[in-house]
Amino acid sequence: MRVETVDVVVVGGGAAGLRAALEVAGAGGVVGLVSKVYPLRSHTVAAEGGAAGVAGPDDDVEHHIADTLAGGAGLGEPEAVRFVVERAAEELARLERWGMPWSRADDGRPALRRFGGMSRPRTWFAADRTGFHLLHTLFQTSLRFGGIRRFDEHLVFDVVPVGSGADRRAAGVVAYDQRSGEPVLIAAGAVVLATGGAARIYGASTNAGIVTGDGLAMALRAGLALRDMEFVQFHPTCLPGTGILITEAARGEGGLLLDAAGRRYLADYGLGPQTPAGAPVAARMELGPRDLVSQAFWRADRAGRTTPGPSGGVVHLDLRHLGAERIADRLPQVADLARRFVGVDAATELIPVRPAAHYTMGGIRTDARGATELPGLYAAGECASTGLHGANRLGSNSLVETLVVGAAAGAAALAWAGAAGDAGAAAAAGAAGAAGAAAAEVRDRAAAVASARLAMRGRGDEPPARIRDELWRVLDADVGIFRDAQGLARAARTLDDLARRAAEVRVTDTSAVLNTDWAQALELVAMVDVARAVVAAASARAESRGAHQRLDRPEPAPGPVLHSEVRAAAAGGEVRAAAAGAPLVVEHRPVGDGMARG
Ligand code: FUM
Repeated sequence: MRVETVDVVVVGGGAAGLRAALEVAGAGGVVGLVSKVYPLRSHTVAAEGGAAGVAGPDDDVEHHIADTLAGGAGLGEPEAVRFVVERAAEELARLERWGMPWSRADDGRPALRRFGGMSRPRTWFAADRTGFHLLHTLFQTSLRFGGIRRFDEHLVFDVVPVGSGADRRAAGVVAYDQRSGEPVLIAAGAVVLATGGAARIYGASTNAGIVTGDGLAMALRAGLALRDMEFVQFHPTCLPGTGILITEAARGEGGLLLDAAGRRYLADYGLGPQTPAGAPVAARMELGPRDLVSQAFWRADRAGRTTPGPSGGVVHLDLRHLGAERIADRLPQVADLARRFVGVDAATELIPVRPAAHYTMGGIRTDARGATELPGLYAAGECASTGLHGANRLGSNSLVETLVVGAAAGAAALAWAGAAGDAGAAAAAGAAGAAGAAAAEVRDRAAAVASARLAMRGRGDEPPARIRDELWRVLDADVGIFRDAQGLARAARTLDDLARRAAEVRVTDTSAVLNTDWAQALELVAMVDVARAVVAAASARAESRGAHQRLDRPEPAPGPVLHSEVRAAAAGGEVRAAAAGAPLVVEHRPVGDGMARG
């Protein structure tokens, strides 16, 4: 197998991955940046509304911390919240020096807009294409650094650990170069997973087809805990049929949500009192926290207050009172999407919307700086659970998290790779050809992973699309905005069956180069495992909190607020590898218990 050696390998070419890579390269390290697509196709490009950072005259860090913790419904980790919030504005200003075209207020300062659950305007934005500009800014900056070695269009199979027990640590990743058709061991002193979330496990989703939870599934297979996976955020305003996001910024700019009778219905579902049309008020009506606005849709739908649409009932987003000029200035992409995908002129007509899965608050358990329980392994961005978002993320807190935690994880990974010296770095160097037991172990483990994955090609009976459609159907039906024990049990049974079938899925294409048939089969296996983790955690949380609402347990449980942690049962509390589809166990741990390694 081809072996490449770097100080740090970063998996994922979106905002968190690029920011981590920039930190490593900026400090003189050599970083392997691996992406299953070309980095500019990463899902970050789809972020619209903005990134939160304190900059307004009546704002301060304590307000941002308080809003974030309140949004998180008791499950936020105060240390992680403070860590990100204190560094947020600095990161956003750094981006500007790298070329980010933030929209401007009349006095030349970055313009700030209101976002749901934020008590003050603090969301920096670039019209409604913030993710597009942010991704391009990071990418163009990355081109200046010779220390960033790109592995574009490489599928990562797994993290490769070395050692056992307390000495176990990450020593690289085994990947597949889709263009040359060869497996490659990228040996490294440390690994950063920045693979994004998993909301594509739902049929109705704002996420791109590539957001399949690959890093989360890798972490499960490596024996790590996935924390708070039951908390899936449903964005309230998405286009029916496609799930395309219509940014919350539309409501931050004054957009209204109307039921079938043309009434602003949110006041009837606990988000009142009514605010003046076009003059949004923090945390009320259309600017309520996302979980509450989506739950209000669900109730209105069941009360017969929606209009039939192509994929269920819809309500309508009204931007008409903003006027064509303001829409063109602040919401050009919303106008474009509405015109192209539902044939609506946003300046004169109503835009039909309904909720779709948008973001996974849970992820690989890390500390505030992205360190996981496996030494040498870090996670940043949506695949990580730092504790910032708790049970419900406030819009615009995630883009800034990708930057702050991406940078911190990159720095920590490089420090670890250097300090590991005789461990990670030597194993990495050794894997490139030199002798040594650790190096041989890394190579052997990588070869075993690669051959198991390669063996999937050209065999199996069932088309992946059938399993994927069933996955989407069961998640949409039974693991949505509201859940109950019966639906979750039904979903768990179906998913166990799908895990068995996904392991035998048909991969007709036997070719080595650009075998998308096989790539999708690997993504499907990951999606099913991540969905099983979501359902296991949701079944074990017998309460309603934030984005996890149980019809059969409508109140928060008394007593200390607990995180859930799902891991492969084979691990039994020990960090140890497990196969895809392994039984899962759920444990709980109080908030504030820290993230001590192991
Ligand atoms: O509505 C939005 O623009 C989404 C932003 C976010 O999820 O942070």
